[in-house]
Amino acid sequence: MSYGGKVAVVGAGSSGIASCQVLNARGIEFDCFEVGSEVGGNWRYMNDNGMSAAYKSLHINTSRRTMAYAAYPMPEDLPDYPNHFQIAQYFDNYVDHFGFRDRIRFRTEVTHVEPAGDEWSVTWRNLDTGEEGTGAYDSVIVANGHHWNPRWPEPPFEGQDSFSGEQIHVHSYKEPDVMRGKRVMVLGIGNSATDLAVEASRNADRTFLAMRRGAWIVPKYVGSKPTDELAPALLSRLPLAVQRFLLGRTVKKAAGVPTDYGLPEPDHKLAEAHPTVSSDLLPRLGHGDIEVKPNISRFAGGRTVEFVDGTSEELDLIVYCTGYKITFPFFDSDVVDTTDNRVPLYRRVVHPRHAGLYFVGLLQPLGAIMPLAEAQSEWIADLLEGQAKLPSRERMWEVIKREDARMAKRYVASKRHTIQVDFFPYMRAIERERRGGPLGRLRATRERELLGSSGNS
Ligand SMILES: Cc1cc2nc3c(=O)[nH]c(=O)nc-3n(C[C@H](O)[C@H](O)[C@H](O)COP(=O)(O)OP(=O)(O)OC[C@H]3O[C@@H](n4cnc5c(N)ncnc54)[C@H](O)[C@@H]3O)c2cc1C
Ligand SMILES: NC(=O)c1ccc[n+]([C@@H]2O[C@H](COP(=O)([O-])OP(=O)(O)OC[C@H]3O[C@@H](n4cnc5c(N)ncnc54)[C@H](OP(=O)(O)O)[C@@H]3O)[C@@H](O)[C@H]2O)c1
Repeated sequence: MSYGGKVAVVGAGSSGIASCQVLNARGIEFDCFEVGSEVGGNWRYMNDNGMSAAYKSLHINTSRRTMAYAAYPMPEDLPDYPNHFQIAQYFDNYVDHFGFRDRIRFRTEVTHVEPAGDEWSVTWRNLDTGEEGTGAYDSVIVANGHHWNPRWPEPPFEGQDSFSGEQIHVHSYKEPDVMRGKRVMVLGIGNSATDLAVEASRNADRTFLAMRRGAWIVPKYVGSKPTDELAPALLSRLPLAVQRFLLGRTVKKAAGVPTDYGLPEPDHKLAEAHPTVSSDLLPRLGHGDIEVKPNISRFAGGRTVEFVDGTSEELDLIVYCTGYKITFPFFDSDVVDTTDNRVPLYRRVVHPRHAGLYFVGLLQPLGAIMPLAEAQSEWIADLLEGQAKLPSRERMWEVIKREDARMAKRYVASKRHTIQVDFFPYMRAIERERRGGPLGRLRATRERELLGSSGNS
């Protein structure tokens, strides 16, 4: 079955190009719009889209085998955890290998997307010429990323505006020269905070790492194996408590417990927060090169910052590693609302209120985003071609509410945990959706017959 409509893809980061690859392979007509001059989004250091969070020392923290697209493995001669230059090169090679670069309109920002009858009206602006245009599309795939709009502390700390030192968000951080000769404090205990604290500990005069709660620190390696390659798909079928026990035992054996290094005791169990992955932080704490602080209580004037334990420090630079906001500047809020970082989507892809509107890569997996974005794109293409079918709107809302409740029960209450998924169970859910359609059911029946006959022989 072929799709007679035309699709607009917003963004050519790793999620958008996964969608382009699938649409291209299926012969589905599409235009992809990209603000920057190149593909790769977040992974393009100094991207002229002005949206990349990559700093010079950034490496992936999901291993390359976990991160690669199923249709295009990463070269074996890459290290386990490549740097951003190598990752951007991989995305370039992917686009060239599948040959769809000419379908991407670079330096073209989508400025408005709205429903127009059964279609979608998409407006764009060329950033070099200023030329604007509007086109009608049957479907829209949104892949504009969710790590580019910095979240500053909310509400701001008392007296924050009066601080006479410098305050930046990690999104604008590039190189450690801004830290040299300074007393630097990093706020947060996610992956940005640990990377920045480690970087500061090698470049600044003094480094403080402040946090409002503790975290489990997962090492990049256990023995000589990347940690995320230890847990096979099979393990993810075990009850969460059993998975947590096995992972907890492994992590504690490999890296110890956070309190051994002077970090606060986490107020949650492992896998109840997005994992903080670092093999560098704990030794830097052990060396005494990073001093741990609790959260800021207030700015006391000048360069003085007070903490909730009553201590205070004189600081020159504060780097807020306090996360990002999910943002769609091109939607009116009555079309897609993002209050509190929440976007209700069926299987994190389908908007139950709007036919033809899909989201790719808008998830935060325990694992890598790219293969999931690729699987989501295959499912969307199945839906477009009529090879898979969506349940009723009522059923979609039921599933969304159930999933939200399950995640809210499991995860620490935080705006960073509104789009969490577990890699393998999520992948299986998408596979089930793909099997649910008429062709899928036929395929499944045929597979069952084949299995049955091979079992009898
Ligand atoms: C510092 C950092 C490190 C990370 N490390 C990892 C990791 O190791 N592994 C992992 O799986 N994930 C990691 N992530 C998560 C990250 O979100 C993904 O790696 C990946 O970048 C997601 O790709 P994306 O295409 O969804 O978004 P992006 O990479 O942000 O790409 C979005 C693209 O859309 C374009 N765009 C945006 N708005 C518009 C518009 N209006 N019109 C046209 N184009 C538009 C942008 O220019 C950009 O090219 C990391 C995130 C950060 C911030
Ligand atoms: N490849 C890599 O090595 C790498 C490097 C950096 C980032 N990343 C990825 O990039 C994404 C974003 O990571 P991130 O670390 O920038 O953000 P994040 O995961 O959202 O973490 C934000 C941190 O800031 C804290 N925080 C938020 N508001 C606060 C406030 N008002 N006061 C005190 N603390 C506050 C949060 O605490 P709570 O938990 O209490 O909310 C959390 O510790 C993640 O997917 C991450 O894995 C990857």
